[in-house]
Amino acid sequence: MTQQAAISLGLSLRILAGAADESAALVAAGAQLGDGSDLETLRGFARGADVLTFDHEHVPLSVVNALQADGVRVFPAAHALRYAQDKLAMRERLGAAGFPSPKFRAVADVDQLLACGQTFGWPLIVKTPSGGYDGKGVWQVSDAAAAREQLVPLFSEHPRLLVEERVAMRRELSAVVARSPYGQVACWPVTETVQHDGICVQTLTPAPGLSDERAEEITRLAISIATELDVVGVLAVEFFDIGSGVLINELAMRPHNSAHWTIEGARTSQFEQHLRAVLDYPLGSTALTAPAVVMANVLAGELPPGTPSLDERLHHLFAHDPAARVHLYGKSPRAGRKVGHVTVLAESPDDSVSALRARANAAAQWLGHGVSLT
Ligand SMILES: Nc1ncnc2c1ncn2[C@@H]1O[C@H](COP(=O)(O)OP(=O)(O)OP(=O)(O)O)[C@@H](O)[C@H]1O
Ligand SMILES: [Mg+2]
Repeated sequence: MTQQAAISLGLSLRILAGAADESAALVAAGAQLGDGSDLETLRGFARGADVLTFDHEHVPLSVVNALQADGVRVFPAAHALRYAQDKLAMRERLGAAGFPSPKFRAVADVDQLLACGQTFGWPLIVKTPSGGYDGKGVWQVSDAAAAREQLVPLFSEHPRLLVEERVAMRRELSAVVARSPYGQVACWPVTETVQHDGICVQTLTPAPGLSDERAEEITRLAISIATELDVVGVLAVEFFDIGSGVLINELAMRPHNSAHWTIEGARTSQFEQHLRAVLDYPLGSTALTAPAVVMANVLAGELPPGTPSLDERLHHLFAHDPAARVHLYGKSPRAGRKVGHVTVLAESPDDSVSALRARANAAAQWLGHGVSLT
C-alpha cells in the first residue's frame, strides 16, 4: 500500500523483504530479498537512498543505531523507535511524563508477578516487552495458580515481563498522527477499533458517540507523544476508553491497521503521509472524504466445501456491493491471518454506522470465510 502511494508521488521506493512471497516484494519491481535484522544487509540496501523507513517494528535497535552512526537518515530514529519496540520502555517513559496509563510493573519472577495480583487485583494482563503482534505476546492471567502454570516458562526467554492491571474499558480507540522532521503534525479523526481475541476486526471513523471535547483531548495526547518522543513518520496511539477518560495502550510507528480506512476515507492516506513525513514534505490534509468510514479486516478462515474461488468471490461481492473498496495483500490464507481489508463509506450523514458495519462485515466474511452474502 506504501508502494501505491510512492507511485503517485513519482518516488522510487526500494524495498527489502524477508521473502519473495511477502506482500511488498510481490508489488515492487526489483525488491531485494534479505534479512532486515542484519546490519550488513541493511548497509548495502540503504546505500544511496535519501531515507530509510520501516513497515514493521522488528529491526533491532542496535542495527538502527549503527546505520544512523554511518550517516543513514533513518525515520523514525532509534531514540523514538525504541518506544514502539519495547512496551516496558514505553510504559516507563510515558508514565514518567505524566501521560494517562494503566497501572503497571516490570517483573522478573513469579513472586513479583503474584505481588502485582495483590496490588492490582486479578486478573492481570501480562505482556512480553517486545516482539508481540495481534495479541501474540499478551496473556490474561486469572489467578495465582494460573500465573505459576502459564508464565514460569516465559521468564527463561524474557528477563523482564510487563504486568498491567486489566483495564475495565468501554471500547478501544486509536489516534493516528504524522510528524515531519520540520515538526509539522497532522492527525486523522479518532477511530474506534473493534477487537476480537486481541485482533482488530473493524474500525469505525469518526469514533461513534465521541464528544468533540474528548476527541480533541485524545488528538492532543497523540500529538504530544509524537512531539515528546520526536517521532518522524506515522504514529498510531492505541487508547482504552474508560468512560471518564482514556488510558494509553501502546504505540506503533508506521502505517497502522487502524488507519487503513484513510486510503479512501481521507484526503491523504496514511501511506502517502508516511512518505511525505519521512521525506520532510509538507503533510497532506487529513479531512474525511465521507461522513463515516468503516473498515473490516479480511481474516483467512476455513472455507466450507464448495466455496467459490477468491476470484469468483470478488466477482460476486462487486455485483452485490459495487461501492465496497477491496484491498487484498496476496498473502497465503493461513487461518486467522489478516489477508486484506474492505472499506465502505457513508454517502450521507443519515447512513447508519451499523448498516455500514454490516456491509463491511459481510464482505470480509465472504472473502475470508466463504460466508454467503445475503
Ligand atoms: N491492560 C489491559 N487491560 C485490558 N485489556 C488489555 C490490556 N492490554 C491489552 N489488552 C487487550 O489486548 C489487546 C492486545 O494488546 P496489545 O495492543 O498490547 O498487543 P499487540 O499484540 O501488540 O497488539 P497489536 O495487534 O496492536 O500489535 C488490546 O488491543 C486489548 O484488547
Ligand atoms: Mg495493540
